[in-house]
Amino acid sequence: MFKTLDDLGNLQGKYVFVRADLNVPAKDGQVTDTTRIDRFAPTVQFLHDKGAKVIIASHFGRPKGQKTPEFSLGFLVEALAKAVGQPITFVPDCVGDVVKQAKANMKDGDIILLENLRFYAQEEDNEPTFCQQLADGIDVYVHDAFSTAHRAHASTAGMAAYVPVRVAGRLMQAELEALNKALGQPVHPVAALVGGSKVSTKLDLLANLIKKVDYLLIGGGMAHTFLAAKGIPMGEGSLVEPDMVETAQKILAGAGACQIILPTDLVWADAFAEGQEAHIADVHALPAGKPLLDIGPQSVKAFIEAIAQCKTLIWNGPVGAFEVPPFNAGTNEIAQAVAQMTKEGRLLSVAGGGDTVSALKKAGVAKDISYISAAGGAFLEWMEGKTLPGVQVLEG
Ligand code: 3PG
Repeated sequence: MFKTLDDLGNLQGKYVFVRADLNVPAKDGQVTDTTRIDRFAPTVQFLHDKGAKVIIASHFGRPKGQKTPEFSLGFLVEALAKAVGQPITFVPDCVGDVVKQAKANMKDGDIILLENLRFYAQEEDNEPTFCQQLADGIDVYVHDAFSTAHRAHASTAGMAAYVPVRVAGRLMQAELEALNKALGQPVHPVAALVGGSKVSTKLDLLANLIKKVDYLLIGGGMAHTFLAAKGIPMGEGSLVEPDMVETAQKILAGAGACQIILPTDLVWADAFAEGQEAHIADVHALPAGKPLLDIGPQSVKAFIEAIAQCKTLIWNGPVGAFEVPPFNAGTNEIAQAVAQMTKEGRLLSVAGGGDTVSALKKAGVAKDISYISAAGGAFLEWMEGKTLPGVQVLEG
């Protein structure tokens, strides 16, 4: 169990360090998607309202220990201040004299944003002296960046040991509660829908899921390797990973009570390009050398029927090449059905991972999914059943 903002006592005048994930999509110095900022803002508003001195820290991009202007967090102040509804002061460093001075100048309720933590290699190295510097004079550590919780960095894990009080922020709390409902202690039956192109990136995830869910639905290019594992000739246009076929066979053989559902028909086209005609073929009658770009209507129907028998769904990965119409049809149809079942109160649906979120947004149903994780890599590692260092420090 972890503590939350609600467990904190009087915060008036207390120095509160908040680890956010402001690693947001941006172009030409403008934030192009404010989702992470908007979902983080309530934590800052709460701390401000309680009269805390709020110190926000984050990484942005991968500057690899170099002070690189293009990775400065300065451009985020405006969007952050807008979302929080309070002025925010940018401090052009994350440790050292400038930060000490800025902290000393803070009045109750003030909010500052520190410069990119990854301008120091010690951040990713989780270097103890750097951890101590970040924690210097801090009364409360708030971790509100579940999406970085798979990283054992100074700000996401190490520094917590040097702060007397550690709690989850509102976004971290929401993520952990939703994920617990989806896979930790879910209401059964549970379905997991997993897509994406490569089995090799999702082996641990699949191995964990078959132990926990009642139905495992596999779509996307990774399904090709599983079909090959069942002895179905997949041809050159498929995304079969030959060295993964044996592993896929082991997963199929070890599924036990978990029912694995694979596509029975696939969509192919003459070329992988927008507007190409979509042809449907049974998996036993695939054309030679044509790209296989989506699951077919019969498979979509079977996936939706399986989900309809469940009370909980966890979804990671599109079932087809959703960025390029018409190969988004399978993903869209499943997304619509999941949204409908969720709206009717029949299904708790939790989705995560960059592609999945953008597929749900493109399908226009993101608002109807019970919970969409703001995390990419952390969501995957959590689905793999791993202990995330950033979560662990809150549980200690
Ligand atoms: C993310 O965007 O998934 C997080 O901010 C983590 O970023 P990283 O993969 O660079 O650690």
